[in-house]
Amino acid sequence: MAAASGAASNAAASTNLLELNDIEAGYGRAALVLRGLTVQVPPATVVCLVGPNGAGKSTVLKVASGMLAPRSGSILVDGVDVTGTNSQRMLKHGLAHVLQGHSVFREMTVAENVLLGAFTVKDQKVIDERVAFVQNLFPIVGERWKQLAGLLSGGQQKQVEFARSLMVSPKVVLLDEPSMGLDPKTTAKVFEQVARMRDAGTAVLLVEQNARRALETADIGCVLDLGRVHISGPAPELLADPTLGELYLGGRPAS
Ligand SMILES: Nc1ncnc2c1ncn2[C@@H]1O[C@H](COP(=O)(O)OP(=O)(O)OP(=O)(O)O)[C@@H](O)[C@H]1O
Ligand SMILES: [Mg+2]
Repeated sequence: MAAASGAASNAAASTNLLELNDIEAGYGRAALVLRGLTVQVPPATVVCLVGPNGAGKSTVLKVASGMLAPRSGSILVDGVDVTGTNSQRMLKHGLAHVLQGHSVFREMTVAENVLLGAFTVKDQKVIDERVAFVQNLFPIVGERWKQLAGLLSGGQQKQVEFARSLMVSPKVVLLDEPSMGLDPKTTAKVFEQVARMRDAGTAVLLVEQNARRALETADIGCVLDLGRVHISGPAPELLADPTLGELYLGGRPAS
């Protein structure tokens, strides 16, 4: 387990799909939220960022997706420096962001919601292939394709959001609190889907307050504290560490 360096480092730097290096960021004139944060996301990996309310987890994802420009530091996507790129262009570089809370349009059909994710894709054949791909990955999306999204349950709506984010074949998906508002059984299903996204070839940077459950799915865990990654390492090691459990994961590991 690496302390303080903040690097989720089981891969050489050049192979990371996403790197946030020494990021400082904040809002307006308020104090900095991120103070030298470094996170690396290798291919075919779920990296999970945990930390208490207000620690800056959503801010990390906003910086990664171009919604918030960092004051300093660099952002690399698949080795390309994209620091300062806005969120629409970030999508073209291969970063998709599923925001905290529910963001389906309830009065639109599942199909319309998912196809919104393909607004930058011009080739209908590519769109058709991606629709087939997401319907295969998330069967409920195909089954409810023509229904209003507002009629789906919270967990089903989350899958519509995942499907929308995958329409551009992103290299990395940024997931902000995907279990928010969901019961334990639905949460388990949503995390299964996160693992399936990874297994289908998309790297995932996941932010969760439901830290224990998220680390059971993640490959690498990072603990955010005072605006930096305080500790990072293989998720099973973080889960098994009793001190970390007490301090950051809401109690000791289940024995
Ligand atoms: N749009 C904003 N304008 C000003 N300050 C903000 C804004 N968004 C977040 N902040 C502040 O930045 C800090 C980090 O917020 P952030 O939303 O990143 O935390 P978080 O770890 O995602 O919290 P939570 O677990 O509650 O989602 C907080 O102090 C918050 O008040
Ligand atoms: Mg948040």
